[in-house]
Amino acid sequence: MKVLGINGSARKDGNTAMIIRAVFSELERHGIETELIQLTEKEIKPCRFCMVHSCMACQGKKACVFKGDDFCAIYEKIKSADGLILGSPVYGADITAIMRNFLDRVGMVSVLNPEILRHKVGAAVSAVRRCGGLTTVDTLNHLMLFKEMIVVGSNYWNIVYGKDPGDVLHDEEGMENMRNLGQNMAWLLKKLNG
Ligand SMILES: Cc1cc2nc3c(=O)[nH]c(=O)nc-3n(C[C@H](O)[C@H](O)[C@H](O)COP(=O)(O)O)c2cc1C
Repeated sequence: MKVLGINGSARKDGNTAMIIRAVFSELERHGIETELIQLTEKEIKPCRFCMVHSCMACQGKKACVFKGDDFCAIYEKIKSADGLILGSPVYGADITAIMRNFLDRVGMVSVLNPEILRHKVGAAVSAVRRCGGLTTVDTLNHLMLFKEMIVVGSNYWNIVYGKDPGDVLHDEEGMENMRNLGQNMAWLLKKLNG
């Protein structure tokens, strides 16, 4: 079994990467493979569904037809993964711009090929300095909930507080929540695929 993590931060290996890795460590303890993709190292252009009037070119193709950036390679990894963690820091009280582009692309291909995300296990996490964490988690959840994914929760909302890289490690309650999330994800993955 494999879980793919997507970090929407502009900062590589920052707080969002750290909280995703905290979930990963629990998954790995249960023998589940993990891989982190950091979108700041990738080019993800906006969905052209809106730019090219109603193109819908991805219908029946099970992939986005626009090959000029890194999206298709990441989408192939999503297709073969059993679980997905979407992580974003809060920027302007919501997700980052590159995560928005990414969600638009995943969403449109998956609207036209609904079996791709159906019944995969998912979780959303956010690193936040002060305000907007819950909105960010909600935005990330929207994609997973409307594409029939099974979204996993923890014993509090999936938000960890911190500003500078490493600050989140001092939010003990938040980090405990991430570890619990990893345990819940592992439990569900084993039930579904055991
Ligand atoms: C452009 C930008 C906008 C931000 N907007 C907010 C905000 O609205 N609310 C907040 O609490 N923190 C905000 N922050 C702080 C980040 O959410 C916080 O530093 C987070 O830990 C960064 O995670 P990262 O290291 O994964 O990038 C913002 C940071 C940046 C760079």
